[in-house]
Amino acid sequence: MKNIKACLSCILVLLFITGCSVFTEDTVVGIDILDLDDAAAAKPSSLHETASPSITEEPDIMPLTSEKQIFEALYGEPYEPYIKYSSEDIQSRRHRVEYDADKPMVALTFDDGPGGESTRAILSTLTQYSVHATFFMLGKQAKQYPDIVDSVIEAGCEIGNHSYYHSDFLKMTQREIADELQMTSDLMLQEHGYFIKLVRTPYGRKNDEIKAAIKYPIIFWDIDTLDWDTRDAQKTIEAALGKAKDGDIILMHDLYMSTAEAVATIVPGLLDRGFQLLTVSELFEAKGVQPLSGTIYRKVTG
Ligand code: NI
Repeated sequence: MKNIKACLSCILVLLFITGCSVFTEDTVVGIDILDLDDAAAAKPSSLHETASPSITEEPDIMPLTSEKQIFEALYGEPYEPYIKYSSEDIQSRRHRVEYDADKPMVALTFDDGPGGESTRAILSTLTQYSVHATFFMLGKQAKQYPDIVDSVIEAGCEIGNHSYYHSDFLKMTQREIADELQMTSDLMLQEHGYFIKLVRTPYGRKNDEIKAAIKYPIIFWDIDTLDWDTRDAQKTIEAALGKAKDGDIILMHDLYMSTAEAVATIVPGLLDRGFQLLTVSELFEAKGVQPLSGTIYRKVTG
């Protein structure tokens, strides 16, 4: 009886080992992702300090820090700015931002769009006050509203990647996650000449596997207005204005007219309180923080 049990245990152990290796091969996208995962797991707190000295020696295992690095990791070819809008005027409007690094600043972010009229109304408010925001778009929505995507870019706002279908990354392999994100990034690059630099996972999903599958900085939020839940402009206004602090990332959704209505009050309200309204990438730049791929940011305080 003991022998049978021992034998069964052996078989179980063998099955487990075999199962593990199959799982690893099936779900890991590439060796650089494995290494990235290992590096993050081994030294979560010292990554920042060790990033610079060793990046030239072991580029594959360190988080990616620049637009160029992210591009080359994703597309396997040398980075060149892929820009459809070649006129100097639009280029400078897209990229130029004036801010005072010593004054408080926040980043308004809008998920799940573009959403038609609600996004247009939000964009109109942002343009009226000459401020910027970041739209974490779904590929399927961007496909539906290409004109709004162009308007967002031309307004100097930033577009982030919120997946293509708003899928649940907890139920997907690393390959599936990377592929779905790539669909949205490819759409932006091919249809709009826009290279995405930031990701926000649908439902704010996160775990070590998800982080390791994402070759972009991952942007979460510090203030959740719950606009999608309340659909109440006044509550959204109170949530955004009541708690805003320097470096905050504020979460809203550009699918609802109640949110658009709230934004018409939130923007002048934040300006009155002395805040500058920047895109997330501008916030990183203003705070002197270099965002790392596979790393989650909830606010940027420098
Ligand atoms: Ni979402």
